[in-house]
Amino acid sequence: MTEPLLAQVLRTVDGKDDRLNEIVTSLITHLHAFVDEVRPTEEEWLAGLDFLVETGQEWCGEHRNEFILLSDMLGLTTAVDDVNHHGPANMTPSSVEGPFHSPAPTRELGAWISFGPERDRGVPTVVHGRVLDCDGTPLPGAVIDLWQANDTGLYDSQDESQESGNLRALLTTDENGGYWFRTIRPSSYPVPTDGTAGRLLKAIGRHPMRPAHLHVRVEAPGHRPLTTHVFLDEDPYLDSDAAFAVKPELVCHPVHREVADDRWELDTPYEEIEFDIRLAPTNWTEENAK
Ligand code: BEZ
Ligand code: FE
Repeated sequence: MTEPLLAQVLRTVDGKDDRLNEIVTSLITHLHAFVDEVRPTEEEWLAGLDFLVETGQEWCGEHRNEFILLSDMLGLTTAVDDVNHHGPANMTPSSVEGPFHSPAPTRELGAWISFGPERDRGVPTVVHGRVLDCDGTPLPGAVIDLWQANDTGLYDSQDESQESGNLRALLTTDENGGYWFRTIRPSSYPVPTDGTAGRLLKAIGRHPMRPAHLHVRVEAPGHRPLTTHVFLDEDPYLDSDAAFAVKPELVCHPVHREVADDRWELDTPYEEIEFDIRLAPTNWTEENAK
């Protein structure tokens, strides 16, 4: 009797790298199950392959990787993040990095990080908090790398009208683990829709919007680096983030302050965002936590 097709294919997976064999075996098994379930026509299968070819040939290069965007849009980046970033219960959860991180200029605590016309258009906002370990001990000297889109939803790297380093900063926490900076209130914005990911979103009836957010990456000696987001509550897209990156612990409440405040060197009404970041120790494992 002829061996079933899937078994024939799986029998050929016999490389030297056991983990790679495991990954490829599982991938083949799931793809065969997909074909069994969906029963694509030959035209549909070739259209799928053409979509992948176009994604690589037309939309991937030095400044863009549409496969990462597709992974983000299908929730796969978040799924991989979830299986890899376990930690103590009160650790700040990680969240996807997204495609717009680039090296940031070092700035003093309290710095304004907005230098373009968005500063006059946007709501002045102070963001402050502390970097702590999971027992609440402050971490002085932690480095916070932050990046943000302007009020039209563009990062400096996407927009020639912004000076390089606009809405980016590398800050170092003070002796109390504290940090603060001044910026404009983040806005919700769409992910790039001109490529294959945008076409797919449209075809399946999804919007491309991300809720307003800041990106942060934090490093402190003896602790695991953390890449995450800070989201603002009451954003209309919090429940339908195109990148599936929202976690409840990352949503903060901006407080509107009508009266100028010398403490933050702001002379107009402003919004205040407080966000503490708790890092896991480098040596934390699921086993030693039990
Ligand atoms: C962003 O935050 O900028 C982003 C994240 C994932 C996909 C696209 C954009
Ligand atoms: Fe972003």
